[in-house]
Amino acid sequence: MTELTTLPTITVLGAGYVGLTTAALLANAGYKVFAIEPNSERLKVIKSGQSFFYEDGLDVIIKTAIDNGSLVATNSYEQSIPHSSVVFSCVGTPDNPDGSSNLAYVYSAAEEAATLMKPGTRYVQKSTVPVGTGREIEALFQKSNLAVHYVSNPEFLREGTAVYDTLFFDRVVAGGDNAESVDHILAIYKRLEQHRHSIAQLGTVDTSERKGQYIATSLNSAELIKVTANAFLALKISFSNSIAKLADAVDADIVEVMDAVGADERIGRPFLNAGRGYGGGCFPKDVSGLIASGLSNGVDLEIMQAAQLVNKSMPGYILEKLRENLPKGLKGARVAVLGLAFKAGTSDTRRSPGVALANTLARLGATVTAFDPIANEEACRDLLKGVSLADSAQQALNTADVIIIATEWPEFIDQKPRYYEEFSRARVIVDAVNRLNKHSYISAGFQYIGVGR
Ligand code: UGA
Repeated sequence: MTELTTLPTITVLGAGYVGLTTAALLANAGYKVFAIEPNSERLKVIKSGQSFFYEDGLDVIIKTAIDNGSLVATNSYEQSIPHSSVVFSCVGTPDNPDGSSNLAYVYSAAEEAATLMKPGTRYVQKSTVPVGTGREIEALFQKSNLAVHYVSNPEFLREGTAVYDTLFFDRVVAGGDNAESVDHILAIYKRLEQHRHSIAQLGTVDTSERKGQYIATSLNSAELIKVTANAFLALKISFSNSIAKLADAVDADIVEVMDAVGADERIGRPFLNAGRGYGGGCFPKDVSGLIASGLSNGVDLEIMQAAQLVNKSMPGYILEKLRENLPKGLKGARVAVLGLAFKAGTSDTRRSPGVALANTLARLGATVTAFDPIANEEACRDLLKGVSLADSAQQALNTADVIIIATEWPEFIDQKPRYYEEFSRARVIVDAVNRLNKHSYISAGFQYIGVGR
């Protein structure tokens, strides 16, 4: 890989989880970075040196770069793109009602950038797009007679550990027809790697070493790598959830099973945690996007359809187990749902299983009080009127007959049974994330309901 002799000025289109993290980290590695955010409320927050979502370590990294001028937040393409030789597209790709990816923002960002990019600019796609999208954007640039090099550079960061994942990556993938541009993009990350310890210390995030690989591929391979990685992880989760249902039926414990199965290094323990299923802005959308991509190319990805079906079944499966254990059923039961973020470490509630559990319970006539240490505000949008939000876990527990742990926040899963006894008279606890020590709850007199335990 070639070393960069002069540092490119970079524009990042879209300052969401991926864009803002990327922009702030590159700005701390010495690049001049423009982050374009069209939403005026969000832009104001970023300009003040903060993030508009919760992400460990990110605020101080943004603030440092905003204060020293290396990161400029703007809504103006004109102010940034003509001065940049590299443009990262990190705009949102929500899904359409039929499950396919909605690429409206991807195309409109490319079209707008096309009017301003100078020849030789490298246009880098970080948004997750169906395979084939890059070729269409290249055609769009060619139609405008633009001598721009297109590179697919998929993102693998996880929300909650976004800073660590970007600095201590396991791989950086870049794919495109122009080998020199692919190499140039990899070199941008190489410089970030050289600065990673000081940036991680600034954000006080984990600095455990990972030996990352730099992988250059073809354009279509790079696009397919991203969705395939997410689909495989989703598959692992749904596989575990299927076996969890069998474990319930035969009185085995899925945690014991997967601890031993995952000890086989060919399989690996990560992403074998059974529970309420996967949520968030990525897996559900990427699985349906991959299925749609398959169909439009004449390929039936039945295995992913099965993974999707299993995932959708999990909240209902858990509530059915609960119903069977309540003498009076779910109607009228007072339930505390602890955890509304789609996983711990984030304020993101998109496709959150905790929200699905709370809403379904409310629909079934339960009295639901929910609480999340960080995601209450964001959850408001998606919760049904019948779900009350509490200001603290204690308040949610106060009136409950049943406790559901829906997100693995340490403040819920690291408690001893005594904590729940103190704040609630509930003696039924649903561990929808399979993270409690079931024996200690059973010994303390709780009726413990896990998933496959
Ligand atoms: C996921 C991928 O892990 C990232 O590599 C990828 O970059 C990102 O999507 C993306 O496409 O942008 P993320 O959605 O942040 O990251 O969260 P994960 O940690 O992967 O968790 C996804 C969901 O699976 C969560 O709801 C989590 O609770 C659930 N999960 C995870 C399980 O139910 N069981 C497990 O064993 C692991």
